[in-house]
Amino acid sequence: MMGTMRTLISNGTVVTAAMATEADVVIEGERIVGLVAPGAAGSEFNRVIDATGRYVIPGGVDMHTHMELPVSGTSSADTYETGTRAAAIGGTTTIIDYAGQTRGGTLKDGLAEWMARARGNSYIDYGFHMMVTDVHDRTLDEFSEMMHDGVTTFKLFTAYPGVNLSDDRQILEAMQVAASIGATIMMHAENGIAIDALRDQAVARGETDPIHHLLTRPASMEAEAVHRVVALAEIASCPLVIVHISSQDAFAEAVVARDRGLPVFAETCPQYLWLAQEDLPEGFEAAKFVCSPPLRRRAEGHQAALWSGVSSGRIDAVATDHCPFTWEQKEAGRGDFRKIPNGLGVVEHRIDLVYQGVVEGWIPLTRWIEVTAETPAKLSGIYPKKGTIAPGSDADVVIYDPAASHTLSAKTHSMNLDYSVFEGAEIGGRVETVIMRGEVIVDGGEFVGEAGRGEYLHRGTNALLPEKVAD
Ligand code: URP
Ligand code: ZN
Ligand code: ZN
Repeated sequence: MMGTMRTLISNGTVVTAAMATEADVVIEGERIVGLVAPGAAGSEFNRVIDATGRYVIPGGVDMHTHMELPVSGTSSADTYETGTRAAAIGGTTTIIDYAGQTRGGTLKDGLAEWMARARGNSYIDYGFHMMVTDVHDRTLDEFSEMMHDGVTTFKLFTAYPGVNLSDDRQILEAMQVAASIGATIMMHAENGIAIDALRDQAVARGETDPIHHLLTRPASMEAEAVHRVVALAEIASCPLVIVHISSQDAFAEAVVARDRGLPVFAETCPQYLWLAQEDLPEGFEAAKFVCSPPLRRRAEGHQAALWSGVSSGRIDAVATDHCPFTWEQKEAGRGDFRKIPNGLGVVEHRIDLVYQGVVEGWIPLTRWIEVTAETPAKLSGIYPKKGTIAPGSDADVVIYDPAASHTLSAKTHSMNLDYSVFEGAEIGGRVETVIMRGEVIVDGGEFVGEAGRGEYLHRGTNALLPEKVAD
């Protein structure tokens, strides 16, 4: 026993994507080494954590974040330090952030830039997707190099013309290259060209308030883009994750693709499950809620449709698209909604917000873990190191108290954000203790982590590709 720290988590209910069962969890150093019957593990432990009445769940995997993302002359407000601390407090022990290419720049330089930001600052383990915003022959040649560096997923955009958008030829060619090397394409699907016309027309009519951000990004423009990129992916035989699905229209397109047997995966976010156009405050304050794709009307049934997808398994993953901007940053768009930086602060609340689906009786406990940890880990190529509680997996474990409750508020959250889009939301359940690779980093709700302990995850390929699942 000398040298290696041995931890026992006793008397809890272990929940994974596959089961909810009474078991004790044995941790040695940074790894889980066993799940045993309650009381059967003996007494040779340096530390025993009593989890009576608690759920013992794998650390959450948030497969979509943007820490310090440079956007329109500013950067998203959470650094790797503040953002990963907030993630950990909320029960997330792994993020896959989006590194980016500058126009005219290389993917290699983009990755190096993001690595430098995260290294030494992250409290939890992290990997990177690569945002490809300037597709040309040299960029495509770099895809294989990225794969060697552990970046196995590439994000393309049909949105944001002049900044991120790729045209159909660029998307098709990138998909062909991705397919040939076993990579997966992550797709931001909204018809950015048509949306830009609608935005300009609205401003020309004097419609400059934040609500017009939502009204000029109709669900049909999201669905159209999903349909188009699925068609391109089919030609290229390329696996696809449609990220941040916000509408039932876009979700329906993803479902059609899946039902045809295509490797098309669906990601949504807590904000699209819980928030709606109807929740927006009057006037410019609605800028707090501006993100793309936008929040949709509850009366049209989008949130209910997305919950039904989480329940049925047709939504694979719930990630946050965490991209917070302070009120001062949002103020840049006063008088012109097109200048409001897009994005919400959510990373701290994902596990709680999806758990509310269990509280409501909409999803079982196992599904909560499947969409917040196991499937994101599989899609990201880091399973079973991350995303489950099993011998050999990293000891990333959260002890969750279903009997506790708390209220979400900017006054108490840890994200670097001076407001909350979830202000006043009552949450049944609470993260109590978080262990990241064997170390307690949240103890009874108190953060006790060490900056820089988070390591870069050299990721494998998507484990849910049909050929892999068949193995
Ligand atoms: O509004 C959003 N979602 N901002 C983050 C960037 C993106 O498109 O994912
Ligand atoms: Zn996006
Ligand atoms: Zn995003």
